[in-house]
Amino acid sequence: MTEPLHNYAQILDWYRTCGVDAALSDVPRDHYVATAPVKLSFKPMAMQAASNTEPHKESAIGTMPSQSNVSQSAPTPSVLATSSPSLATTFKMPDFTPPVVTAGDHPALNCETLEQLRYAMENATGCDLIKAATHTVFADGNPAADVMLIGEAPGADEDRLGQPFVGQSGQLLDTILATIGIDRSSIYISNIIPWRPPGNRPPTVAEVAYCLPFIQRHIELVQPKILILLGGVAVKTLLNRGDGILKLRGQILEYTTKSGATIAAMPTLHPSYIMRSPSQKALVWKDMLTLKAWSVLNNK
Ligand code: URA
Repeated sequence: MTEPLHNYAQILDWYRTCGVDAALSDVPRDHYVATAPVKLSFKPMAMQAASNTEPHKESAIGTMPSQSNVSQSAPTPSVLATSSPSLATTFKMPDFTPPVVTAGDHPALNCETLEQLRYAMENATGCDLIKAATHTVFADGNPAADVMLIGEAPGADEDRLGQPFVGQSGQLLDTILATIGIDRSSIYISNIIPWRPPGNRPPTVAEVAYCLPFIQRHIELVQPKILILLGGVAVKTLLNRGDGILKLRGQILEYTTKSGATIAAMPTLHPSYIMRSPSQKALVWKDMLTLKAWSVLNNK
């Protein structure tokens, strides 16, 4: 070792300050040395599912059908079903055609399928968060589910694995859902922002504004019966309400899609907030009972 240890400590501190808090590889990579050109990361979803070795690999997202296939040939799974038939065996992968992007338009606009939307997000150029992200975190769960959960933005674990809510807050979310008999095969999960903000800082107004058409289109393509909005950012972005999350949580409100349809929407506390303020846990259990009662009332 030729340099005193405190220099390395300073370098690590500098990285931490810049938001770098996870190593992506065991060996360093010199980005100044020319390497083979990087290929675009898009693969049709069936191929991704086949090659995915990460947790939740059996989720339906890997074999996502187009929405028209869903409504024609599949029974909609019940909100409170503890499992649903594997979509891999139920659906044929449709041929993939990249979305048409008109200059000046947001890339979400012409996406007619979830595959196209994922492609548009993975190739987005309007938000710098994508440059630092390891993965575009698209979604997890069952795209034919009645319940769609929407969080804020991926954290370090989600960025590393490419799936929403797979870190500590995701484990807590799974526990919360299990109290009313729901698991990831009977819901669908996404985020307002698909790329990790460095250092887990809150997304900026400009980042939220750029990502909004993606999540709006995502909701329109999935057509859930109810949205569960996890935390203040999801609530403020999608419901445009001035009231704070503690006031709105547990209420069945309405989200209006771009085309004017209304979908039930229930705000609840974000699992990360519960981890920081465990005394508020009881409120989330209450909200889960409200969701369960809503699903019984609405026969979902
Ligand atoms: N927090 C979020 O809001 N989303 C994730 O995917 C993970 C943590």
